[in-house]
Amino acid sequence: MKKLIIANWKMNPGSQRDASRLAHFVGRGLRKAKNVEIVLAPPFVYLPLLSNFKLPTSNFKLGAQDTFWEKGGAYTGEISALQLKASGVKLVIVGHSERRALGESNEVVHKKLNAALGGGLKAVLCVGEKEKEREIVFPKIIRDELHEGLRKIKKSLIKNLIIAYEPVWAIGTGKADTPKDVYEMSILLRRELYKMFGKKIASKVPILYGGSVTAENAAEFVGRGMVDGLLVGGASLNAKSFVKIVEEVGAT
Ligand code: 13P
Repeated sequence: MKKLIIANWKMNPGSQRDASRLAHFVGRGLRKAKNVEIVLAPPFVYLPLLSNFKLPTSNFKLGAQDTFWEKGGAYTGEISALQLKASGVKLVIVGHSERRALGESNEVVHKKLNAALGGGLKAVLCVGEKEKEREIVFPKIIRDELHEGLRKIKKSLIKNLIIAYEPVWAIGTGKADTPKDVYEMSILLRRELYKMFGKKIASKVPILYGGSVTAENAAEFVGRGMVDGLLVGGASLNAKSFVKIVEEVGAT
């Protein structure tokens, strides 16, 4: 299976010009990318720009960083999964810790996830503990995020689900998790998914790692860490770094 690498641009860059420069250099650097599927998830305002952009390989897809759960109507400032789909978006990130920190509950995350999957998008459910307290038991916070996010989601929609393990303490801190711990967490996550959806369905759900991923550590996470891909924040804003990350992963 191709590794999945998602560039989460967060609230960057500051102008259309810089967004198109970044996309241009990423596209140029990855003309011949192999064994990887790349998703660029810019702020909503740059989606039209990027969907018209001639990104050179068929490996590129457009992503979004959030969605709303209703299909349309009087919801000032919100954007629906249907609107995203109509704008060329294929994948949406849901429940990122930066959104949870702004007050998004597991209930809200669940509604967004259901709307995204039901609307025909792939959806990345982000989970992660806040403190680096490596307990022997699987952290309750992750179990809750997983179970409450996924409860009552139809089994038939799970084929479009992706899980991203993003320990909050590793995001933007330069202190990435270790491949060994990421491997252990991915096993625990998969075990929970087995319980919820059965082995046949759950074994196909990709599990990604995110948190201070760089060109130096990327290959280790998909190698020793055995994850199916990466969710990259800061390093995706520098075309050279992002291209290198994709190349390193593609070469594993
Ligand atoms: P950093 O790569 O900047 O740590 O961010 C990770 C992240 O939050 C991706 O969604």
